Amino acid sequence: MMKLKPSFFFFFFFFTLLASLIAATENDLEEETATNPLIQETCRKANLNVQYGFCLAALQSAPDSLCADFLRELGLISVKLVRDNITSTRCYIKYLLRDIKAGPYVRLRLDDCLDIYSDSLLAVKRIIKDYQSKRYGYANMEMSSVLDAAMACEDGFEQEEGLMSPLMKRNDNLYMLSAMALTIINMLLF
Ligand SMILES: *[C@@H]1O[C@H](CO)[C@@H](O)[C@H](O)[C@H]1NC(C)=O
Repeated sequence: MMKLKPSFFFFFFFFTLLASLIAATENDLEEETATNPLIQETCRKANLNVQYGFCLAALQSAPDSLCADFLRELGLISVKLVRDNITSTRCYIKYLLRDIKAGPYVRLRLDDCLDIYSDSLLAVKRIIKDYQSKRYGYANMEMSSVLDAAMACEDGFEQEEGLMSPLMKRNDNLYMLSAMALTIINMLLF
């Protein structure tokens, strides 16, 4: 009986691994090329206000952005990203407020942020209506207030020395997302 050398198995195993790696890479490439050129173009134009990478990742995260054909569609997608972010953070603030360990000062700041985020949620609902009726001027004004709100919430924490904002990352996200939505609204406005 002929005995196969271990090196044969090694070679076979290695080859199979290599082949599947190549296949995986090709699949990745396919995924990567499945981007919407309108998103890239829009993010390039928005680059002055929003980091290109952030813009790309945010818009591509929306399931319906791949088949958006018009800037107007991307604008609505970006406003909805703002809305979803606000909804999620508002819920997170409530969750933090239930935490018995939160000190009185943090609690006060979180209460403020909850108000701010609740107002912003109402604002973004109006923005969606304004946007859909092409009242871009109003949408612009209200979106600026959402952007300010993200900063206002964050500033509350920075007033106290050494206090870390538990919402920093989320406020940053909202700030950048609303700057992005604002930029697209302005492209439609002017
Ligand atoms: C909020 O926006 C950021 C940036 O796009 C994203 O990474 C994060 O997942 C968003 N969160 C929600 C709940 O939409």
